Amino acid sequence: MVMTAEQNERLTRVAAGTPMGNLLRRYWHPVAPEAELLENPIKEIRLMGEDLVLYRTRNGSFGLIEPHCPHRRAAFKNGYVEEDGIRCSYHGWKFAPDGQCIEQPYEEAASGHTRYRQLVCALAYRAEAFAGLVWAYLGPAPAPLIPNWEAFTFANCYKQIMIHHVGCNWLQCQENSIDPVHFEWLHGNWIAGQDGITEGYAPRHLRLGFDRWDYGFAYRRLHEGDDEESNAWVTKRLSMMPNVFAPSHFEWRVPIDDENTLSIIWMFDRVAREREPFEQDVIPYWYRFDTDEYGHPYAQRVLDQDVLSWTGQGVIADRTKEHLGRSDAGLVMFRKQLEADLVAVEAGRDPMGVIRDAEVNRCIRYPNNMRDGIDNPPPTEVVHQSFAARKRALFPDGDDFFFLMAGQPPEITAEWKHALAMT
Ligand code: FES
Ligand SMILES: [Fe+2]
Repeated sequence: MVMTAEQNERLTRVAAGTPMGNLLRRYWHPVAPEAELLENPIKEIRLMGEDLVLYRTRNGSFGLIEPHCPHRRAAFKNGYVEEDGIRCSYHGWKFAPDGQCIEQPYEEAASGHTRYRQLVCALAYRAEAFAGLVWAYLGPAPAPLIPNWEAFTFANCYKQIMIHHVGCNWLQCQENSIDPVHFEWLHGNWIAGQDGITEGYAPRHLRLGFDRWDYGFAYRRLHEGDDEESNAWVTKRLSMMPNVFAPSHFEWRVPIDDENTLSIIWMFDRVAREREPFEQDVIPYWYRFDTDEYGHPYAQRVLDQDVLSWTGQGVIADRTKEHLGRSDAGLVMFRKQLEADLVAVEAGRDPMGVIRDAEVNRCIRYPNNMRDGIDNPPPTEVVHQSFAARKRALFPDGDDFFFLMAGQPPEITAEWKHALAMT
């Protein structure tokens, strides 16, 4: 399945009015941590090629509005929020989250009526907070539901949100979600290979399984020396349409534009029994570091390695030059589904994974038993042993601990370790 340049364009371009832009606009996407808007209620944001301003009103609603005020184009990023909307700081016109102008102070004083403001409406999209994230919907009404994935309902978990900018197209990031063999080479052997330690290579993949489920695809892997009871074969990893990886943690690859992606990661760790009951008022967040103090890209942790692979494929990977193999069977399933979904949207139907049924959305279960590890966690010493082994492999000399990506602030590391009873 070699792609033509036209097919590659069709799958990668995200601006409004493009086929993929239309498809991606049929889903809610997380775009910021809720905690960030609690600290600073106005944030400039670019989504699928559209410059916008995200804000939180004082009564807790969210709005996503065009960047310039309809009066004389002042920047909403310099505005301020009130109970029911955002006010432009130039002449005080105020706008509600649906974009409607709800106050024009001088116009109303001078005319004695409010009819003019009813004619003024800014471009606005829906935004809502859920699971510690602010979500945006840029598509046609009626909006579907924000998916209530099973993990959002898990109790007694330490959650954290990580955000980073990836300087390439969204699709190559998401294609990593259905790419089992990269674990062995990118995360298992790359560092050892650079050091010439070939006897330290990870066990080889011998068999792969790709399954379709209601919201996308799942994959299983069998390593040398493992059997069908092994964790990698039983605990499926999920690639959910159109841009989500799950379930051990979530990664959303939200297009900023054709050449940039907002990577949002929502991670949960079951706290130690000793820390139950455990709740967080606010889910903490942090931004990843791209480079160390010498300007070298971080490459030791799992997601840092992923980012280097995605950006290494080019700003928009040239899929006309690929040579796919058996390891890419899941990737081919995913691309075919995208193509089918493009056709569905063009025909006015919902693409795969859009949820409109509130009953279904009470809790969307995964095709594996994640809940068991939450309800019946392994003994704390066993968890500590597995973290210690990972630390020995990744940071044998340092006191760094967090294995997923670089840049975790010390106060979050301390909270996380405390929740897991490591301190
Ligand atoms: S430019 Fe916004 S109120 Fe005048
Ligand atoms: Fe990876």
